[in-house]
Amino acid sequence: MEKIIDENKQGENLIIQEKKGNTRKLFIESYGCAMNFSDSEIVASILANEGFNTTKNLEDADLVLVNTCSIRDKAEQTIRKRLEKYNAVKRINPKMKVGVLGCMAERLKSKFLEEEKIVDLVVGPDAYKDLPNLIAEVEDGRNAVNVVLSKDETYGDVSPVRLNSNGVTALVSITRGCDNMCTFCVVPFTRGRERSRDPQSIIKEVNDLWDRGFKEITLLGQNVDSFLWYGGGLKKDFVKASDIQKATAVSFSNLLELCAQAQPKMRIRFSTSNPQDLTLDVVETMATHANICNHIHLPVQSGSDRILKAMNRLHTRAEYFKLIGDIRRIIPNCAISQDMIVGFPTESEQDHQDSMSLMEHVKYNFGYMFTYSERPGTMAERKLDDDIPEATKKQRLAEIVELQQKHSLFRTQEHLNTVVEVLIEKESKKSDQQWSGRSAQNIVVVFPKENYKIGDFVNVKATQCTSATLIGEAIGYSENN
Ligand code: SAH
Ligand code: F3S
Repeated sequence: MEKIIDENKQGENLIIQEKKGNTRKLFIESYGCAMNFSDSEIVASILANEGFNTTKNLEDADLVLVNTCSIRDKAEQTIRKRLEKYNAVKRINPKMKVGVLGCMAERLKSKFLEEEKIVDLVVGPDAYKDLPNLIAEVEDGRNAVNVVLSKDETYGDVSPVRLNSNGVTALVSITRGCDNMCTFCVVPFTRGRERSRDPQSIIKEVNDLWDRGFKEITLLGQNVDSFLWYGGGLKKDFVKASDIQKATAVSFSNLLELCAQAQPKMRIRFSTSNPQDLTLDVVETMATHANICNHIHLPVQSGSDRILKAMNRLHTRAEYFKLIGDIRRIIPNCAISQDMIVGFPTESEQDHQDSMSLMEHVKYNFGYMFTYSERPGTMAERKLDDDIPEATKKQRLAEIVELQQKHSLFRTQEHLNTVVEVLIEKESKKSDQQWSGRSAQNIVVVFPKENYKIGDFVNVKATQCTSATLIGEAIGYSENN
């Protein structure tokens, strides 16, 4: 699954779910990161108990909810355009109610109601359990807002409905919020302080998914390696925990191990890792368990020490290289991917070259690359001028995207004429005669269907490739099947 969902891909993120006896219709769509898609499943689950079934037709909806992203200005503009579309539908169906969820709701709060007259309901990421009350208020003719951020809400007790699911891969959220305070990032403001979910509820969800036929999970958090369960509460309050709580605390590597052992055939992925928080015990746990996929998404943002410091990324270029070296020593074939920002305030041509040379050193398998977008309220916005011209940002982005494509091709080619294990997820977009799945290293693999089916683990001999896809032929079921 892609971590960042293209903000412009309309329609692909519609979700559908039925519960008998429900008569009200919910249209819910999600933008932004995987966490939003996971949260929408929690919201649909909460509302299924309030009489709502989801619909894929906007025109039929009694309630429209949009789970929003604030990470870049463009993401917010996409949502604003979407609200215009809802407005057009509301003119035909005036009873339809419209709610905004997620990061934009949290950032703009009740200002949303003034700025966008169409909006009836504004709900932040920690307040979804209040939706039944808020909807009742809206139905009484009042606008409703709840953007309270919580110290302990993790939705651990809500069993998400699996929406628009392929029945094979699922998202499992394990932490919420982020304490890292990268100076460019709005997430700590919109999703609050970091807290972890009870491992028992995570394992229960993993077991339940396996029983229902799912074969792969992705453990989700803004900063998964920072997972720490000591009985509940904010991560930053761990210092105040009792000796017993400290002695029995569960770290991310402990959690990975628990998941891997609970379902030894379930593929386990996780996202996102931050270089300063990824510890080697995690990499060693990955190496010990065959079912933990050999792929680490390890955003770096810049290759220049000066810019990393200004971003409040708590690692240097040399420390990052050391980490990459350690990962490759422990897991030689581990795929590594990146997020990178170009055009951060004061970024010089030399800083940009440093990012390019860092990429050249690592040769990432793939990456998500962005031009810097100033976000209101962040430290970078308050302290620094957004001084890199748009044209320079675009030029630098084009350069790193081109370099990444070269590296992706190099990495994908490494698998040519080898056999990779593939979990079949869906029909290939290009041909109804082919299956599409992913290897443990997260490379998309397509091959003729034969008698295999979705959810099978298959060994595929790779014979051709593009920069992002291996093409081959199945040679049989894998041991895992
Ligand atoms: N830890 C999170 C990061 C969320 S933001 C996670 O789970 O992935 C995803 C990526 O968006 C970041 O890694 C960064 O590369 C990019 N990003 C964040 N804020 C940005 C901004 N203000 N401008 C441009 N890109 C940004
Ligand atoms: Fe954002 Fe940095 Fe956290 S990118 S989500 S503040 S790790």
